[in-house]
Amino acid sequence: MNDRRPDDMVRITTPELADAYIEEQLKALREQIGDKKVLLALSGGVDSSVVAAMLIKAIGDKLTCVHVNHGLLRKGEPEQVIEVFRNQMKANLVYVDATDRFLDKLAGVTDPEQKRKIIGGEFIEVFAEEARKLDGIEFLAQGTIWPDILESEAGIKAHHNAGGLPEDMQFELVEPVKILFKDEVRIVGERLGLPAGMVYRQPFPGPGLGVRCPGAITRDRLEAVRESDAILREEFAKNGLEGKVWQYFTVVPDFKSTGVKDGKRTFDWPCIIRAINTTDVMEVTVEHLSDELIDHLVQRIISEVPGINRVLFDYTPKPPATVEYE
Ligand code: XMP
Repeated sequence: MNDRRPDDMVRITTPELADAYIEEQLKALREQIGDKKVLLALSGGVDSSVVAAMLIKAIGDKLTCVHVNHGLLRKGEPEQVIEVFRNQMKANLVYVDATDRFLDKLAGVTDPEQKRKIIGGEFIEVFAEEARKLDGIEFLAQGTIWPDILESEAGIKAHHNAGGLPEDMQFELVEPVKILFKDEVRIVGERLGLPAGMVYRQPFPGPGLGVRCPGAITRDRLEAVRESDAILREEFAKNGLEGKVWQYFTVVPDFKSTGVKDGKRTFDWPCIIRAINTTDVMEVTVEHLSDELIDHLVQRIISEVPGINRVLFDYTPKPPATVEYE
């Protein structure tokens, strides 16, 4: 298996090129793995999903996928992972609902970096616990992609995929999309039979909705983020904006304002909509929505999401504002 992207490698832009890459990888994977067992942390994101689909094809049930639900996933995400991988692709999938564990540990924690640390640390702990229950695992599969390698070499990003597992749990790595750029990973994923919605989805941060529920996460406010995000995604899909706008989501900050509903005073949270475009995420511009769509989103969110009495739109580019709120 190539460890580095060959300088003369042709960019995978067509189904034919993707198929050729898949064939080559399947052969290499079968040679590397033989009849041994492989473990994969399957988040449902593009990269790990493509790795899962590739390995299911290469080695079938010698792959075990572990999907940890940290309680900070978007609405319908764990269900989609189970549907696609367990029901359709017949993968050996361990699903762990660790929502309570994560939310209990996060209770009262307001510092953004501390929140990220808890989410990352707890994730590794849950994953390691599941791995220990399995016998004879020799390989760990990972959705490392070529930009991850370039960024870690340039010192921009710690290449944390590989790290983190306890000392006694070091496996040989299997990284079948390691030399691919993101657009190539998507085409390969499509050719492996993954749904377009999974392969072409917008970026979603590892700490999930946790960074969109600023300050100390509470279950009710988290639920308001999840429900408003689901409405936003639904409306973007209906209005042809899915796949066109780089990233869009909602944030529910931890402050309340007065309102009025059914003749009674309310004291509820605002919901902030953020929709941005970029090429490299270093600088972003704001996607301007039509007045009609904004009005419709406001109506849906205030009437369908408990705890929200106001909807705001974030018109701030990056810089100075980052994409996420924490
Ligand atoms: P910021 O907020 O830094 O976001 O302008 C830039 C891009 O990175 C994503 N992001 C993260 N992704 N873990 C991730 O995997 C994180 O902790 C994290 N923080 C931000 C963000 O969604 C955006 O696409």
